Amino acid sequence: MLAHHVPWWFAQAYRLEIQDGNGVLLAAKSQLSPAEPGASYTLRFEPPGHGLELVAISYHNDPKLLRNVLAAAIFILSLLSVSSLWALRRHVRRRLAAEQALRTEHSFRKAMEDSLTVGMRARDLEGRISYVNPAFCHMVGWTADELVGTVPPMLYWVPEDLEHTYELHRAVMRGEAPAEGFELVFRRKNGERFSALIYEAPLIDSEGRHTGWMASVLDITERKRAEDLSRQHQEKLQHTARLITMGEMASTLAHELNQPLSAIASYATGCLNRIAAGDARAEEMVSPLTKLGAQAQRAGQIIRRIHDFVRKSEPLVRPCLLDEIIEGVVGFQEPEARKRGIRIDLTFALEPGMARPRVEADHVLIEQVILNLVRNAMEAMGQTPRPQRVLSISLQSGDGQATIRVADRGSGISAEVAANLFSPFFTTKETGMGMGLNICRSIVEAHRGHLWFEPNPAGGSIFLFTLPEMAR
Ligand SMILES: Nc1ncnc2c1ncn2[C@@H]1O[C@H](COP(=O)(O)OP(=O)(O)O)[C@@H](O)[C@H]1O
Ligand SMILES: [Mg+2]
Repeated sequence: MLAHHVPWWFAQAYRLEIQDGNGVLLAAKSQLSPAEPGASYTLRFEPPGHGLELVAISYHNDPKLLRNVLAAAIFILSLLSVSSLWALRRHVRRRLAAEQALRTEHSFRKAMEDSLTVGMRARDLEGRISYVNPAFCHMVGWTADELVGTVPPMLYWVPEDLEHTYELHRAVMRGEAPAEGFELVFRRKNGERFSALIYEAPLIDSEGRHTGWMASVLDITERKRAEDLSRQHQEKLQHTARLITMGEMASTLAHELNQPLSAIASYATGCLNRIAAGDARAEEMVSPLTKLGAQAQRAGQIIRRIHDFVRKSEPLVRPCLLDEIIEGVVGFQEPEARKRGIRIDLTFALEPGMARPRVEADHVLIEQVILNLVRNAMEAMGQTPRPQRVLSISLQSGDGQATIRVADRGSGISAEVAANLFSPFFTTKETGMGMGLNICRSIVEAHRGHLWFEPNPAGGSIFLFTLPEMAR
């Protein structure tokens, strides 16, 4: 029974025995090598047997445990290797992505460097060139291969200015290059000289170490030439402006002089007539002679003006008070205005408690601008009905600039005239020279201001100009 009916797999796990009442072994089935027995279970054959019993014994199956442990270990190891393969795959992917990003970044930077018109030059702490960009090569005419690795004196240094260049170079190496950049003359491979504007900045590597200096180099030859030209132009312009305004002024002053001179002449004739008539009582002579004296003084003032203007014909920029200049011009033009029946209305819209606006200017030139605008305004009101002949001059200050406004109630300015208003020699007047506004604008712009005009809502036109105010 044991041999035939107990299945093999059972026999692999347990030992089955049949024993009699005295514990004598009658039969057994087991495929286990005898080892230390584990738990056992006993079943009695009742009632037929004489104390026969079936004993099932389980064994501590060490080899099997070992196998299981091994299998588990293999399983865990293979799990581990799969997961590390997975991690590796992820790592490789990330690396590829990083490389791709690096390549993109690199080509972007390369394109950027190549498109730069600013020259870039890197030097190590000894001053040896470690990098130059195409713009720098283009500027100096040497190739990157010829430049990289060279030490001072550089190929592009100007031999006759070596001392100065060395001095600046040493300052850069000490880290004392001016932050706002410095100018230096370099030479090109073909011997040509050019002005370079250089900014130096420390070169720091990824570990934060200072490894050298990076310079950006700008070729400012053209710019300097343009600046020189514009300065010369400006000077010439100011000079011509003065000559022309001098001419204009001389003619007005001559005109102005006529008035007091003819008054003097008529007072003198009056007095002479009385003397001739034997009617010259001393107290009656006082009044005409006093008036004569006043007119003579006025003539003297006018001549002094011409003298002043000629003497001051060198442009002289100094702080001046705008309200003072305006008052001067108005005082000077008052007799002319009276003759034309024009009322001059002066407004100084200054903030209370604030100092009067001061500008850095050539006092005489600014006077000429105002004079020109006032004269144009008065000339424009020839056809205006008398009561409306008002000339309003105002001075305003704010936002760091002073605005002077000359408003008339005259003929106004047609679109056609407006198009040519500031052109030299453009005039609609028979005796006009047509230089007034052209000069005014040049003078104002030479003082960093603006001049323009607007139609006057009340009829006529308004000419305005601004001048940057000095800090108060
Ligand atoms: N306030 C004004 N109102 C009307 N027209 C003006 C005024 N100012 C200037 N103009 C016009 O602009 C022209 C040019 O002025 P300007 O350059 O001073 O030369 P000019 O006074 O010698 O004619 C004048 O002839 C005139 O037609
Ligand atoms: Mg004029």
